[in-house]
Amino acid sequence: MAEACRQAYGPAAGRLVIPVPDLLSTLGAHQWRVRGVPVRALGRTIHPHYGVFAPTRQEYIDLVAAAPWPRVRTAFDIGTGTGVLAVLLADRGAGRIVATGIEALAAACARDNVGRLGLSGRIRVEQADLIVCNPPWLPGVPASSLDAAVYDAGSRMPRGFLREVPHRLTSGGEAWLVLSDLAERLGLRTRGEPAGMFAAAGRTVAGRLDARPRHRTRRRADPLAENRAAEITSLWRLTRSPRGAGRA
Ligand SMILES: C[S@@+](CC[C@H](N)C(=O)[O-])C[C@H]1O[C@@H](n2cnc3c(N)ncnc32)[C@H](O)[C@@H]1O
Repeated sequence: MAEACRQAYGPAAGRLVIPVPDLLSTLGAHQWRVRGVPVRALGRTIHPHYGVFAPTRQEYIDLVAAAPWPRVRTAFDIGTGTGVLAVLLADRGAGRIVATGIEALAAACARDNVGRLGLSGRIRVEQADLIVCNPPWLPGVPASSLDAAVYDAGSRMPRGFLREVPHRLTSGGEAWLVLSDLAERLGLRTRGEPAGMFAAAGRTVAGRLDARPRHRTRRRADPLAENRAAEITSLWRLTRSPRGAGRA
């Protein structure tokens, strides 16, 4: 019972009162972890940890086992839980698998299962502590692939980045977003827009580093020369808002 509680609640910092139903489910979870759950499609056992989604109903695993197999060099298993699907993908022939999840408990559980099955060389269980993005800086419709590095209608890339970051980053992790204020200087974006996007994504600004242009504007006739010379490029360090405000 002590071991079951340690695994579920961590090392005891003092006395702990646990309702009996919770204690019973803690014991049940411990038994699963020790004995494992036999997974039909794998012909092996997966060991769920306390608080991690256990593969007890296995229809979904059978589906992943039965789907036509494309040529796969690298596969991603998003929201890996116990790692059961990552292991199945390895069995099916994926050369390299990256398994991710937002919960530290699940990442530890998946690593445990991957290690037990001797697949650590092929399956990497990851949680990102830092995600960096330097998106196109100007609102506008790109006409070529090079344009797409500079123009982005409706700031879709930074908005998508900010939307997805909460699902990919550890709770203490940082997202770094590089943006210039050229769009604001040209009146294509309002000054408050970046701050609004960060708040809507439940991100707090932990810091900002600014850089001024070092290049000389060569084309004197460039109508943007003045704005380019004054442009400030910023690296925004974004962390999770204290209450995760704005998370969908
Ligand atoms: C239904 S379980 C599936 C677990 C495992 N892949 C399996 O098939 O047994 C969903 C998993 O998604 C994870 N999850 C939930 N929200 C997530 C998010 N926003 N980003 C990544 N993973 C997430 C949960 O922690 C959980 O492990």
